[in-house]
Amino acid sequence: MGSGINAGIISTGKALPVSRLTNKDLEDMVDTNDEWIKSRTGIEERRILTTEETNSYLSARAARIALERAELSPQEIDVLIVATVTPDLILPSTACLIQDIIGAYNASAFDLAAGCTGFLYGLQVAVQFIENNSARNILLVGVDTLSPIVDWQDRNTCVLFGDGAGAVVLSRVGEEQGILSSKMYSDGSKAKLLYVPSGGSSEPARYRTIDERGHYIKMNGPEVFKFAVTVMVDSTLHALELSQRKKEDLDFLIPHQANVRIIKAACKRLDLNSEQVIVNINRYGNMSSASIPVALDEALEENKIQRGDLIAMVSFGAGLTWGAAVMQW
Ligand code: ACO
Repeated sequence: MGSGINAGIISTGKALPVSRLTNKDLEDMVDTNDEWIKSRTGIEERRILTTEETNSYLSARAARIALERAELSPQEIDVLIVATVTPDLILPSTACLIQDIIGAYNASAFDLAAGCTGFLYGLQVAVQFIENNSARNILLVGVDTLSPIVDWQDRNTCVLFGDGAGAVVLSRVGEEQGILSSKMYSDGSKAKLLYVPSGGSSEPARYRTIDERGHYIKMNGPEVFKFAVTVMVDSTLHALELSQRKKEDLDFLIPHQANVRIIKAACKRLDLNSEQVIVNINRYGNMSSASIPVALDEALEENKIQRGDLIAMVSFGAGLTWGAAVMQW
């Protein structure tokens, strides 16, 4: 994006829990039904952690696949960034746990929290390390395991989320390739539209916080919905402008997978047809920071994306945060 060095994604990987939770399963847990969930969100099933799986376990699996495809050893990674709001532990960072699991001993490692926009925030940070020549190879993991902090008694939220991990390796790429532009935004005045009240240092776990179900996600869905459609469109257009491209130049949009109605409304305003939009929310629900890297990985595995394609990625989430990036594959 301006220094003469181009940074780009050179490989991807993903890992999903083995256990599927269908809408029918949810009918036995809360007052909901398959038809409501499908028509209001587009979700049919989601993956949920089993007791053997954790955030760092899924991340390490996704990371190993991405490294193998990049033909890099773990020791060749200079920086390991993990975008997540569901770390294994409050400390140390999940990035340090993953570093040890995969043996990326030469990397600096840190977590980055930006809600569902975490992967795109991480992407912009990674690009800057490469473009200012302070790192050659970066492993970026977008991962969230929201199921332990979802209130399985709250039908407004429990039908929406799923667990998963996506990983990408970023390195130097050739001219006219890689990340062309990237823009992040946030508005902390809207923090309480989507938050977990307890469990942090301001409200640590106590009997009262447990009784109040304060350790689970609280969300004002309709307000987030309205906000999401507007910022998905505006930030995609802004990232395109920064990359000196137009919406007519786009081959694909990889949007955050929160609600298929949000995706459709945004695509209509961007004049994109359904073949140009990568959608997998039906199988995974909202995996927060993992949504975009998993969708990218699947689109590549299915050979939808070809060398030279222009791709926009756009997301929004807790914070509130939002952002978009444009890349030439
Ligand atoms: N099953 C059946 N009925 C339900 C369910 C359910 N699972 N959930 C809510 N309802 C009911 C509500 O109680 C309400 O009933 P009422 O009219 O009798 O009060 C009715 O359905 C309509 O509820 P709304 O909230 O108006 O439904 P809406 O069409 O807005 O859909 C939804 C709700 C799916 C949550 C939507 O608002 C949405 O997707 N919002 C965005 C959420 C989002 O993108 N979050 C991003 C998270 S990103 C991150 O950082 C983690």
